[in-house]
Amino acid sequence: MSINFNHTIVYARDSKASAVFLAEVLGLPPPKKWGPFQVVTTDNGANIDFMNADGEITPQHYAFLVSESEFDGIFDRIRERSLSYWADPAQSQPGEINHNDGGRGFYFEDPDGHFLEVITRPYGSGGREP
Ligand SMILES: [Fe+2]
Repeated sequence: MSINFNHTIVYARDSKASAVFLAEVLGLPPPKKWGPFQVVTTDNGANIDFMNADGEITPQHYAFLVSESEFDGIFDRIRERSLSYWADPAQSQPGEINHNDGGRGFYFEDPDGHFLEVITRPYGSGGREP
Protein backbone atom coordinates (compact mmCIF):
# COMPACT_ATOMS: atom_id res chain seq x y z
CA MET A 1 0.00 0.00 0.00
CA SER A 2 1.26 3.46 -0.81
CA ILE A 3 -1.33 6.10 -0.22
CA ASN A 4 -0.22 9.59 0.72
CA PHE A 5 -2.10 12.83 1.05
CA ASN A 6 -0.94 14.84 -1.97
CA HIS A 7 -2.73 18.20 -2.24
CA THR A 8 -5.66 20.35 -1.31
CA ILE A 9 -7.01 23.66 -2.61
CA VAL A 10 -7.22 26.54 -0.17
CA TYR A 11 -9.31 29.52 -1.25
CA ALA A 12 -7.93 32.99 -0.63
CA ARG A 13 -8.72 36.59 -1.51
CA ASP A 14 -5.07 36.94 -2.56
CA SER A 15 -3.56 33.54 -3.23
CA LYS A 16 -0.02 34.86 -3.61
CA ALA A 17 -0.14 36.79 -0.33
CA SER A 18 -1.61 33.84 1.56
CA ALA A 19 0.89 31.39 0.11
CA VAL A 20 3.80 33.68 0.92
CA PHE A 21 2.43 34.13 4.44
CA LEU A 22 2.28 30.38 5.05
CA ALA A 23 5.69 29.68 3.53
CA GLU A 24 7.37 32.48 5.45
CA VAL A 25 5.79 31.70 8.81
CA LEU A 26 6.52 27.97 8.53
CA GLY A 27 9.99 28.53 7.07
CA LEU A 28 9.24 26.63 3.86
CA PRO A 29 10.53 27.51 0.36
CA PRO A 30 8.64 30.29 -1.45
CA PRO A 31 5.43 29.27 -3.23
CA LYS A 32 5.56 28.22 -6.86
CA LYS A 33 2.95 29.27 -9.38
CA TRP A 34 1.29 26.41 -11.22
CA GLY A 35 -1.74 27.29 -13.33
CA PRO A 36 -4.20 29.18 -11.15
CA PHE A 37 -2.47 28.01 -7.96
CA GLN A 38 0.20 29.35 -5.65
CA VAL A 39 1.66 26.12 -4.32
CA VAL A 40 3.35 25.63 -0.95
CA THR A 41 4.92 22.21 -0.50
CA THR A 42 5.53 20.71 2.93
CA ASP A 43 8.50 18.49 3.73
CA ASN A 44 6.39 15.34 3.29
CA GLY A 45 5.56 16.37 -0.27
CA ALA A 46 2.00 17.56 0.27
CA ASN A 47 0.96 20.59 -1.76
CA ILE A 48 -1.25 23.35 -0.43
CA ASP A 49 -2.66 24.98 -3.55
CA PHE A 50 -3.84 28.52 -2.83
CA MET A 51 -6.40 29.74 -5.34
CA ASN A 52 -8.10 33.11 -5.65
CA ALA A 53 -11.77 33.23 -4.77
CA ASP A 54 -14.34 35.99 -4.71
CA GLY A 55 -16.85 36.52 -1.95
CA GLU A 56 -16.85 35.13 1.53
CA ILE A 57 -14.23 32.51 2.30
CA THR A 58 -15.22 29.76 4.69
CA PRO A 59 -12.37 29.23 7.15
CA GLN A 60 -10.88 25.76 7.14
CA HIS A 61 -8.44 24.11 9.53
CA TYR A 62 -4.96 22.93 8.58
CA ALA A 63 -2.38 21.53 10.98
CA PHE A 64 1.36 21.09 10.54
CA LEU A 65 3.57 18.64 12.40
CA VAL A 66 6.94 20.29 13.00
CA SER A 67 10.16 19.48 14.84
CA GLU A 68 10.97 21.13 18.16
CA SER A 69 13.58 23.40 16.52
CA GLU A 70 11.20 24.35 13.72
CA PHE A 71 8.57 25.14 16.34
CA ASP A 72 10.98 27.63 17.93
CA GLY A 73 11.49 29.43 14.60
CA ILE A 74 7.79 29.48 13.77
CA PHE A 75 6.89 30.75 17.22
CA ASP A 76 9.55 33.50 16.91
CA ARG A 77 8.13 34.61 13.56
CA ILE A 78 4.56 34.63 14.90
CA ARG A 79 5.65 36.92 17.73
CA GLU A 80 7.83 39.10 15.46
CA ARG A 81 4.72 39.71 13.32
CA SER A 82 2.63 40.41 16.43
CA LEU A 83 0.14 37.76 15.29
CA SER A 84 -2.47 36.47 17.69
CA TYR A 85 -2.14 32.87 18.78
CA TRP A 86 -4.02 30.55 21.07
CA ALA A 87 -3.34 27.34 22.96
CA ASP A 88 -6.76 25.92 22.13
CA PRO A 89 -9.10 25.64 19.14
CA ALA A 90 -11.84 27.54 20.97
CA GLN A 91 -9.45 30.51 21.11
CA SER A 92 -10.11 30.86 24.83
CA GLN A 93 -6.41 30.83 25.79
CA PRO A 94 -4.82 33.73 23.88
CA GLY A 95 -1.07 34.20 23.99
CA GLU A 96 -0.47 30.68 25.27
CA ILE A 97 0.70 27.41 23.81
CA ASN A 98 -0.38 23.89 24.75
CA HIS A 99 1.65 20.85 25.73
CA ASN A 100 -0.70 18.22 24.40
CA ASP A 101 0.77 14.75 24.04
CA GLY A 102 3.97 15.93 25.70
CA GLY A 103 4.84 18.34 22.89
CA ARG A 104 4.08 21.94 22.08
CA GLY A 105 1.36 23.42 19.92
CA PHE A 106 -0.68 26.51 19.16
CA TYR A 107 -3.23 27.94 16.75
CA PHE A 108 -3.14 31.07 14.59
CA GLU A 109 -5.01 32.53 11.62
CA ASP A 110 -3.92 33.16 8.06
CA PRO A 111 -4.92 36.36 6.17
CA ASP A 112 -8.35 34.91 5.30
CA GLY A 113 -9.06 33.46 8.71
CA HIS A 114 -8.07 29.90 7.89
CA PHE A 115 -7.32 28.33 11.25
CA LEU A 116 -3.76 27.04 11.28
CA GLU A 117 -2.08 24.88 13.89
CA VAL A 118 1.46 23.75 14.55
CA ILE A 119 2.20 20.76 16.77
CA THR A 120 5.37 18.89 17.65
CA ARG A 121 3.59 15.61 18.49
CA PRO A 122 0.81 13.99 16.48
CA TYR A 123 -2.63 13.90 18.09
CA GLY A 124 -2.90 10.99 20.50
CA SER A 125 0.81 10.11 20.37
CA GLY A 126 1.10 10.86 24.09
CA GLY A 127 -2.10 9.06 24.99
CA ARG A 128 -4.23 12.18 25.07
CA GLU A 129 -7.95 11.76 24.34
CA PRO A 130 -9.98 14.82 23.32
FE1 LIG B 1 -6.18 20.36 14.69
